[in-house]
Amino acid sequence: MTKMLVTGGAGFIGSNFVHYTLKNRPEYQVTVVDKLTYAGNLANFDGVMDDITFVKGDICDDALMDKLVADTDVVVHFAAETHNDNSIRNPKPFLDTNIYGTYTVLEAVRKHGKRLHHISTDEVFGDLELNDPNRFTETTPYNPSSPYSAAKASSDMLVRAWARTFSVKATISNCSNNYGPRQHIEKFIPRQITNILSDIKPKLYGTGEQVRDWIHVDDHNAAVHLIIDKSPMGETWIIGADNDHVNNKAVIEMICDLMGKGKDWYEHVNDRPGHDMRYAMDSSKLRRELGWQPQYTDQNGMVEGLKATIDWYKNNEAWWRAEKEAVEQAYAKQGQ
Ligand code: NAD
Ligand code: DAU
Repeated sequence: MTKMLVTGGAGFIGSNFVHYTLKNRPEYQVTVVDKLTYAGNLANFDGVMDDITFVKGDICDDALMDKLVADTDVVVHFAAETHNDNSIRNPKPFLDTNIYGTYTVLEAVRKHGKRLHHISTDEVFGDLELNDPNRFTETTPYNPSSPYSAAKASSDMLVRAWARTFSVKATISNCSNNYGPRQHIEKFIPRQITNILSDIKPKLYGTGEQVRDWIHVDDHNAAVHLIIDKSPMGETWIIGADNDHVNNKAVIEMICDLMGKGKDWYEHVNDRPGHDMRYAMDSSKLRRELGWQPQYTDQNGMVEGLKATIDWYKNNEAWWRAEKEAVEQAYAKQGQ
């Protein structure tokens, strides 16, 4: 058995990664370390709690990270503060967890000579103009816009510095916007699905022309496993499923349509300050060198995955209902 430590494994992508790993890669013995912030949820392990070791803890706790990393073979580092709107309301936790927390993880893997895969985002590159046909590649310069993306960019830089200076065995992946089950209802797609299920009109920031390059979370996690299996150390990988033609307005209309509302049953609300316009990912290196192919592809890029995601929120109301009012109240204060 290979011991795998998953930081932030009780959140959206991390918990889907844990489920994916248990189902597809039985050779891994999984330990999760998670602080259980508002974004972490033990219910995300329903059905698999007995198959993992769960440790409630903070990645900024160096004694804890030292102990956990000493007893593992590979660390997959998902833990982060992740929501742009929260980082605009209150940046400090983003600097603490995303920068200092990553430093703590790096020091532990350095000391114990363990393999690290660092999960990052396309947001480190900043944004493209709407009419710019270019896509982000592994060599696009960093130009982050928000406190969240600046903190993630910092964490990537720390990983690169530790790899070069201390020969830490690390790889990095930068992925585009994920969707799928168990995503917190503060985020765009689950917020609109649960709005409709609560008879609230979906909320579109500004004009809704912004483009996000949506990818199903299982396609992201399959790529992470390929990178862990096959990547040379020190490499960076772009992960994206070629959905850079779908803007926010089109996504909200798709959700309204799939949920039996009129296509325009939504309202425009205040825009996000500093709102990035367009993300687009060139994942050709990952496809060419590691043979990755996204599975959630159809003529509209995301309809099948979106239908399954809508069904998940319909069937798991107990998972999200208690938080809905508070999330909407926080947005309402900002006219969103
Ligand atoms: P999430 O907010 O759903 O989950 C984050 C998890 O980290 C939670 O379980 C939370 O409790 C935990 N956590 C936060 N601070 C911690 C700390 N100090 N110590 C231990 N645990 C802590 O996030 P997500 O959307 O699943 O994102 C996971 C990772 O993937 C992040 O690094 C994010 O930057 C990256 N990413 C996300 C997306 C996306 O679309 N969601 C895309 C690309 C990359
Ligand atoms: O690109 C990867 C990033 O994707 C990750 O690094 C982040 O952790 C993740 O949160 C996500 O960031 P975004 O800011 O792109 O995602 P969010 O779901 O917050 O918003 C997606 C788009 O939808 C964005 O253009 C803002 C818009 N939006 C969002 C909300 C919550 C709306 O129009 N209405 C909304 O209610």
